[in-house]
Amino acid sequence: MPSTEGLGARRAALQMLEGVLRRGHTLDAAAAHVRGLSPPDHGLAVAIAGEALRRLPDLDDLIDSATRQRLPDDSKARMVLRLALAQKIGLHTPDHALVATALPLVDGGPRRLVHGVLGTLLRRSVPESDAPRLPADVEERWGAAWGEKVVEAARRQIAKRAPLDLTFADDSEAQDYAAAHGGVSLAPRHVRLASSSVAELPGFGGGRWWVQDLAASLPARLIPDGSTDVLDLCAAPGGKTMQLAALGHRVTSVDSSESRLRRLGENLQRTHLRADLVTADALEWKPGRQFDAILLDAPCSATGTFRRHPEVLYRARPKIIADDAQLQTRLLARAASWLKHGGTLVYSVCSLEPQEGEEVIAAFLAAHDDFTLEPPNGLPEFATASEGGWVRILPGLLEGEGGLDGFFIARLVRRG
Ligand SMILES: C[S@@+](CC[C@H](N)C(=O)[O-])C[C@H]1O[C@@H](n2cnc3c(N)ncnc32)[C@H](O)[C@@H]1O
Repeated sequence: MPSTEGLGARRAALQMLEGVLRRGHTLDAAAAHVRGLSPPDHGLAVAIAGEALRRLPDLDDLIDSATRQRLPDDSKARMVLRLALAQKIGLHTPDHALVATALPLVDGGPRRLVHGVLGTLLRRSVPESDAPRLPADVEERWGAAWGEKVVEAARRQIAKRAPLDLTFADDSEAQDYAAAHGGVSLAPRHVRLASSSVAELPGFGGGRWWVQDLAASLPARLIPDGSTDVLDLCAAPGGKTMQLAALGHRVTSVDSSESRLRRLGENLQRTHLRADLVTADALEWKPGRQFDAILLDAPCSATGTFRRHPEVLYRARPKIIADDAQLQTRLLARAASWLKHGGTLVYSVCSLEPQEGEEVIAAFLAAHDDFTLEPPNGLPEFATASEGGWVRILPGLLEGEGGLDGFFIARLVRRG
């Protein structure tokens, strides 16, 4: 009798994958719904579901190649097979353990079908791609917007674990930390480490640093040094607020989510930094004064974060992207009205969709003739402005060093 040790983790992985693909949850939210597992089993379940999401189109092709029966996309049989193959390819789980933990998940259902498909595939030896395909609609969209080379880079990136980037309040501490812990610094106040658990990192708790993808640290670097009264709009969980506070600005951080803003408060406490926190919907809030500078890191489809959150590629449907673009346009117009003449407004999104970046800014400039686009300076060399005058971070950039999240950043200045 093969062992079914680890069945709880596989059952949880199934629940998580279904939560993402059937109910549209993020993997973090789907994982938070699963309770009662030991931390290692919970971690294993997240790793299995995550691996399945990184490779879904390739896994589905494999499954389809081993049966004439068309398994519906959201059928339990397909979900269980995806998870089993993901373990084979991404986690190198032995075949007997795969089978023993897959079949009980379809008890009372298509057990014989799943056994047959899995047996066929395991006998063939399953190919392991280091550039798995992205969902077809995403490849089409990104191919049209950015070209095939970017799609190929994104394929390579989704197969890999993203490195861990830290931002420090102080540059000399960053350089010391990099030297002491085998990290690399790719920009002032930045350290990149090979991926590992954050809570286990030396200095967590007492440290004046926080986890932040290097691309996500770029927008705050464009707020001028001298601006004292800075509004961080859509601020939580606060990576950019901490950057601004560490530079000595007086920061007002606004976010509509109370729980996310609470996390921002905890982050400030841990890093001994300060900002004024306001829980408010920016579409209704009235600040009562104008600011020297404003950073709007707008809510978006987050497709630029696909390396850490592969499920974003399944959630970002055209309607969601279009709705996000409308919200971003409204938020940007409000932010613009709160800026002093001569002030700087930085707009950013962790999205790889032109609709949420380039197109929002083009429409904004057409409607606001008191604003001009000022090509960014003072950023690390890899983040030079594109022809349009904004910074567009695409898959493939700094690939040898571990890559970056996809981002769009524009710096706008209000005429004096
Ligand atoms: C991309 S995240 C911000 C990340 C943050 N800037 C950072 O660096 O940690 C977008 C944020 O916008 C907030 N948000 C969404 N709609 C909002 C609204 N209408 N008013 C204020 N905040 C909003 C969300 O709660 C979320 O925290």
